[in-house]
Amino acid sequence: MAERLLIRSGHVIDPANRIDGEADVLIADGKIVKVGRVSQQEIGPVCRQIDATGKLVVPGLIDIHVHFRDPGDPEEETIASGSAAAVKAGFTSVVCMPNTNPTIENETDVEYVHRKGRQARKTHVYVMGAITQGRQGLALAEMGHMAEAGAVGFSDDGNGVQDPAMMLRALRYAAMFGKVVAQHCQDNAFAAGGVMNSGYYSTILGLPGIDCLAEEAMLWRDLQLVRRTGARYHAQHISTAGSVELIRQAKKAGLPVTCEVAAHHLLLTEACCCEYDTNYKVNPPLRSEADVEALRHAIAEGLVDALVTDHAPHLQSEKELEFLAAPCGIASLECALPLHIKALIDPGVVDWPGLIRLLTVGPARVIGIDKGTLGPGKQADVTIIDPDLEYTIDINTFISKGRNCPYHGWKVRGIVDMTIVGGEIRYQRQP
Ligand code: DOR
Ligand code: ZN
Repeated sequence: MAERLLIRSGHVIDPANRIDGEADVLIADGKIVKVGRVSQQEIGPVCRQIDATGKLVVPGLIDIHVHFRDPGDPEEETIASGSAAAVKAGFTSVVCMPNTNPTIENETDVEYVHRKGRQARKTHVYVMGAITQGRQGLALAEMGHMAEAGAVGFSDDGNGVQDPAMMLRALRYAAMFGKVVAQHCQDNAFAAGGVMNSGYYSTILGLPGIDCLAEEAMLWRDLQLVRRTGARYHAQHISTAGSVELIRQAKKAGLPVTCEVAAHHLLLTEACCCEYDTNYKVNPPLRSEADVEALRHAIAEGLVDALVTDHAPHLQSEKELEFLAAPCGIASLECALPLHIKALIDPGVVDWPGLIRLLTVGPARVIGIDKGTLGPGKQADVTIIDPDLEYTIDINTFISKGRNCPYHGWKVRGIVDMTIVGGEIRYQRQP
């Protein structure tokens, strides 16, 4: 059974409860008892105390977009290695994407991910089921059974659902179970064969491009389907200024739409592909500076619901292929927090409560889980952060098996000191 814990004198940030100041946090039986000034009497006789002076104490971070390659590719990542990396990065909940081998597309598959997550005893592991069988876009997967097994939503991530009639059915069906449909917006008619953003750089590099239209056309189409059905819809890793504008209009119109942005789309541009380094090959591709600016602006404006890593580990041997042939993806779970600080806090896009909202209660609401706050009685998922510690990102220190990380050697600040999941200390940084 989880011990009693008192986190003393930290700077508590709990955006959902509008808390932003010094306080203690008392935890018992795996739940939050109190945030505030805790008296000796309330502490009781047996209680482990953690001094958080000078640290930030926040609701456990939530990443609703990770790839743990389990089942199927354990040399790239497993639920055990991925969830150990997650708690080191401060995440107390993650959502695995279903583009595994085999695809997560039925009740048994969902149960497999949950069971592996429980066995790992690190972070809470949630999963989205596939929208269509094999993510092929031809027939719906067993969404109802997966919903019953606890899938938090559905996505064909890696592929967009091309057929509008199929997407319409998926939205209607998911709505019957109160689940969100998350789309990797990419129209293959525009994107097929592309390996980076389409424009000046793709031209001089001689690489086939993916036009912004590929993302925006599918997002626009989906928004018409949402207007028709009223179903909950989430746009994954939006990457263009045009997508921001579509989300702005949809939210203004009151549609039940949410969106996420991945760290790499806030920090890197298409110009990074200049040396054909495949660590910059990702889907959706890195875009222009104007797109990065638009995304940062959207975050400042409050249009974005969640920040994600889209942690996508790949084997070095595969990433060493030429740019055209290498797989897409960036392994970034373990440097998520300092990257978000660099992208959003340092340039003044958001303040700390703004950032923590996008990493806690924001993503929790997208998938409809009762997490992301430190309210009394809530499950005690807590992350303690040293916001000022400076260091250099080093892939050789990663617990994740993914080494395909373009941030190796970057000087950053902000590190996770402790991660508490359900009242248990699941990670503690060794100084
Ligand atoms: O870059 C990406 N990597 N984008 C995706 O949509 C899929 C992901 C992966 O699974 O590697
Ligand atoms: Zn993804």
